[in-house]
Amino acid sequence: MLRECVEWLLTPTGWAARRMGLLRESVAMGARSRRCSAAWGPHVRRCREAMLQAAQGCAGRRTVVVCGSGYCHDVPVAQLAGMFGRVVLADVVHPLRTRWMVRRYGNVRLAEVDLTGMLHNVGTWRAGLDVETIRPVAPSGLTALGPDLTISANVLSQLPLPVMTRLMQLGHGEAETAQVCRRIVQAHVDWLEGLPGVKCLITDTVSRDMDGDAVLDETDLLYGMELAQGGEAWTWALAPRPEVSRRFDRIRQVAALTWPLPPDR
Ligand SMILES: C[S@@+](CC[C@H](N)C(=O)[O-])C[C@H]1O[C@@H](n2cnc3c(N)ncnc32)[C@H](O)[C@@H]1O
Repeated sequence: MLRECVEWLLTPTGWAARRMGLLRESVAMGARSRRCSAAWGPHVRRCREAMLQAAQGCAGRRTVVVCGSGYCHDVPVAQLAGMFGRVVLADVVHPLRTRWMVRRYGNVRLAEVDLTGMLHNVGTWRAGLDVETIRPVAPSGLTALGPDLTISANVLSQLPLPVMTRLMQLGHGEAETAQVCRRIVQAHVDWLEGLPGVKCLITDTVSRDMDGDAVLDETDLLYGMELAQGGEAWTWALAPRPEVSRRFDRIRQVAALTWPLPPDR
């Protein structure tokens, strides 16, 4: 607990990310990753393999951008730094551990980026808000880098969460809120689609609370948005019991998609 308090206090982060609870979430995720490191191992390995496979299929090797880099558990930073001229780790919170780790590499830099462009506004929303006016803003600074490879590293399902929380606080209904959340996840995928180079999207898609084979609860993390067919899929033992409950394990269904594929795959 003391370690988490110190991390929360010392991690340099913009006020919007602090206010919207993203720094708190990041610190909590670091603590969970330490508690669940064995259970997370297979997921982390598969993410890294998918990212490296995408990197190997890239014709250009100037710039790779990693969205949602966070602690870089799932990001093979050393290998990417060896393969590309420049590695840009983009997240709204860069944990102290990541800040320390990147000092080893001359070509890895951190970009503090809100991938939705909305965090500064969310806290100012008041009752009576017309949800139709809520539109995410693409991260143009990352687009301008003209990446040869863009990786979306387990961030997609996280993007709508501050907006969802705020709309619920303001009394908006579930259906209306889900529509806005879907717009946010769709906007990230559309942004990836429009970038040059190779794109590698890794995301959790469904959350399940399981007791043995019995599904106690299931949530669509993408609000009905369908991903393209193909790619790979696996499960991530996000929170084995007793992490969130003694009654169930919380698992995530994960999808990994890379496009366009090189001609030989
Ligand atoms: C589940 S973690 C991703 C795991 C990360 N790749 C790792 O290995 O540590 C989600 C990440 O998304 C980031 N994130 C959430 N909302 C964001 C936003 N609007 N813009 C940029 N990053 C965001 C969080 O700070 C967090 O680091």
